[in-house]
Amino acid sequence: MPTPQIDLRSDTVTHPTDAMRAAMATAPVGDDVFGDDPTVNALEARAAHLLGKEAGLFVTSGTMGNLVSLMAHLPRGHEAIAGATTHTVMDEAGGHAVVVGATIRNLAERPDGTMDLDEIADAWRDPQDLHEPITGLIVLENTHAHTGGRPLSLAYTEQVAKIAHDRGVPLHVDGARFFNATTALGLTPRELAAPADTVTFCLSKGLSAPIGSLVVGDKAFIARARRARKLLGGGMRQVGVLAAAGLVALSDGPDGTISRLADDHANARLLAEGLARLDGVRSPGGIAQPEGELLDPTRAVTNFVLFRVTRDRSAFLAAMEARGVLLVPYAHGSIRAVTHLGVTPAEVERVVAAAAESLRVTA
Ligand SMILES: Cc1ncc(COP(=O)(O)O)c(C=O)c1O
Repeated sequence: MPTPQIDLRSDTVTHPTDAMRAAMATAPVGDDVFGDDPTVNALEARAAHLLGKEAGLFVTSGTMGNLVSLMAHLPRGHEAIAGATTHTVMDEAGGHAVVVGATIRNLAERPDGTMDLDEIADAWRDPQDLHEPITGLIVLENTHAHTGGRPLSLAYTEQVAKIAHDRGVPLHVDGARFFNATTALGLTPRELAAPADTVTFCLSKGLSAPIGSLVVGDKAFIARARRARKLLGGGMRQVGVLAAAGLVALSDGPDGTISRLADDHANARLLAEGLARLDGVRSPGGIAQPEGELLDPTRAVTNFVLFRVTRDRSAFLAAMEARGVLLVPYAHGSIRAVTHLGVTPAEVERVVAAAAESLRVTA
């Protein structure tokens, strides 16, 4: 029998657990556009409660969550401030421009995923100057993908929120991997969400649900976001069959998938340590860790490992695939490996052995 593949391309490759499938099969449903789906209502309430906000909204994806948040926060001609490499800026097909009619002021991030606080304050537009857009939002990404899944601290989030709130502007957190951040920081979701006005988080990444994201915030914001979701064609009907999996993910007890994220983090560290010992593995470059250094495994604090090889990258990735390990090319010539539910420490050892062999055959 062929050895099964180890798929480290993303935590989005996770499949629903047996408990999720069972809950999906028996979920009570209704027409969610009428507000009649009890399972969706329960999921939205659970998300809001967990993050300490008034209300929640179930959306199809993280991209839709960020988009409806921007639509609800920003009138046309307004501007958000965000890190230059964030998903909102780079990977959402320009939705802020195409749909919202907003610009984004991109600021460089530092190796820990933060933007300089003075630069954020300096990026503010002059609302009296009719040449300029109007600054209307700050967006943070937590965890921050391009720096290798770095969690942004509570203190930093509070400092950014203060800059925003002193100027009468809200803070939105793209928390696609928000629970990876809370796990790594040892905080409750409520604590880390407290400084933010609104948060998006994903069910379909490390939490292993098959689909969906949640947006949370105050009731007035969620009402606007709900309208924006409808505009985008995201009003869904008996969608409790999907929300049921999310409710399992967010549940306390053995079927919930938040508390097990710590295993993914331990496996990512194990992988980074194994890779760092190999001749031919280097730091990822870009903003994560300057190019040309030895890989620093202590940078792997959530479920991402970014690295570079001193070989042709495509040849190395093909050699890994031939050995049953899937990875993806990432920014600045780097490679990304993401740990998730179903990846065991034994498989991490297999990945390191495959990397040693792949480096040898591509030398
Ligand atoms: C930081 C971040 N934000 C948002 C998203 C968008 O999520 P989705 O793929 O569900 O649209 C992703 C997806 O990988 C992400 O990494």
